[in-house]
Amino acid sequence: MIKLKEIKDLDLSGKRVILRADLNVPVASGKILDLTRLKKLSSTIRTLSKKNARVIIISHFGRPDGEKNKDYSLKIVVPELINLLKQEVRFSSDCIGEQAENTVNSLASSEVALLENLRFYKGEEANDPEFARSIAKFGDIYINDAFSVSHRSHASIEQLPKLLVNAAGPQLLREIKNLDKLFTSRSGSVAAVVGGSKVSTKVSILNNLIKKTDFIIIGGAMANSFLYANGQEIGHSMYQKDSKEIIRQIYSNAKKENCELVLPVDAVIADSLHKPKIIEECLIRDIPENKMILDIGEKSVSNFINKVQSCGSVLWNGPLGAFETQPFDKGTTTFARKIAELTQDKKIISVAGGGDTTHALNKAGVMSKFSYVSSAGGAFLEWIEGKDLPGITVLDRS
Ligand code: 3PG
Repeated sequence: MIKLKEIKDLDLSGKRVILRADLNVPVASGKILDLTRLKKLSSTIRTLSKKNARVIIISHFGRPDGEKNKDYSLKIVVPELINLLKQEVRFSSDCIGEQAENTVNSLASSEVALLENLRFYKGEEANDPEFARSIAKFGDIYINDAFSVSHRSHASIEQLPKLLVNAAGPQLLREIKNLDKLFTSRSGSVAAVVGGSKVSTKVSILNNLIKKTDFIIIGGAMANSFLYANGQEIGHSMYQKDSKEIIRQIYSNAKKENCELVLPVDAVIADSLHKPKIIEECLIRDIPENKMILDIGEKSVSNFINKVQSCGSVLWNGPLGAFETQPFDKGTTTFARKIAELTQDKKIISVAGGGDTTHALNKAGVMSKFSYVSSAGGAFLEWIEGKDLPGITVLDRS
C-alpha cells in the first residue's frame, strides 16, 4: 500500500491548514438529506483544531459550471457544521480574493472557516494553476480528506497540493486502507458482484476485476445482456443490443485469467415493471417471450451466496434487479442481508460502494453490517477500474 504523509507527520500549531473536503451533500427543498459526509469531516476538523491549526475548509458543491449561483452556496452546511463541532464556523462568500483573505486572516489558532463553492470559478474544473495559486496563498499546509473527489483533475485536487506542504487526511486514508485490504490481506479468494444496467459502462471494471478475482457474479439488467449474448430467450427484458462483441471479449479475458463469470439461473418475471398483472418465478431457460426479467430468483440468490461463501472476500457494485420497485427488490435485499450475516459471523470480508448499491444496502438495513461501505461514487468506480486517482497520485509520500 502507498504510504502517504499524514497529519501526525506535520507540526500544525498556529499554521493555516487548507482542508480539501467533499461537502457535496444531497439536498432537497433547501434541506440536507444525509449528514454522513459532514459527520466524517467534523472528526477531521476536531483533530486539526486540537492541534491548534487555523482550519480553512474548501470544497465543491454540485455542478454550478463556473458561475456563481446561490442554489449551490456552501452556506447551507454552516449551521450543521456548527452543530456537529459545537464551535463557530466563519463563512466567506467567496473562495478567492479580498473577502476570503479577510476571513482567513481573522482566524486564531483552533478556529475554523469555510470558503464558498470552488466551482463558482471555471478555473477549478479547468485544473487552472493560476486559480490554485489564488487559494494557496491563504495556507501553509494542504490536506486532502476527500477521496470521493480525488478522481477529478481539478485545481483544488491536483494543482493545490503541488504548491504547499501536503498530507492525506484521516478519512481519505481510511478509505484507501479499507479498499486495498480486500486485495492485499486476504486469506481466501475474492468474488466480485457486478450489477446495474449497461455492460458498456462497466467494461473496464469487469476487465480489471477479471485479473483480481476468482468469480464475477453478474446481476441486474447487465446479466440479461450476457444471457442474450449466450443465445438465451429473454423475452422483452431490458438488455444492451450492441454488447455481443464486448461480452465475447469479456468471456475470452475471463478464460485467460481463470475467472469464472456467474450468471443467474432463475428469475422473477412479469409482463411489465410498473403495473405487473402476474409476477412469477421461473428458470432462465423457461423465460416466455412476452415476459421480462425484473429480479433474480431464489435459486440464483443461493447460488451467488454459495460462491461468495467459498471465497474469503466479496466486492459489490450494482443492484441485482429492479430494486427501486417493489417487489423486485427482493433478490438484492436477500443477498445483501445474507452477506451482512456472513460478515458479522466473521466468515467473509465485504466491501461495497457506488450510489445505487449504498442505496440498496440502506433499504435492506445492513449498511453498518458490511466490513466497509465506500461513501464515494465515481471515485470508487475508478478505483475498481484499477485507475490511478490524480488527487492521490499527487500527494507526498512519507
Ligand atoms: C461525489 O459526490 O461523488 C463527489 O462529490 C464528486 O462529485 P462530481 O461527480 O460532481 O465531481
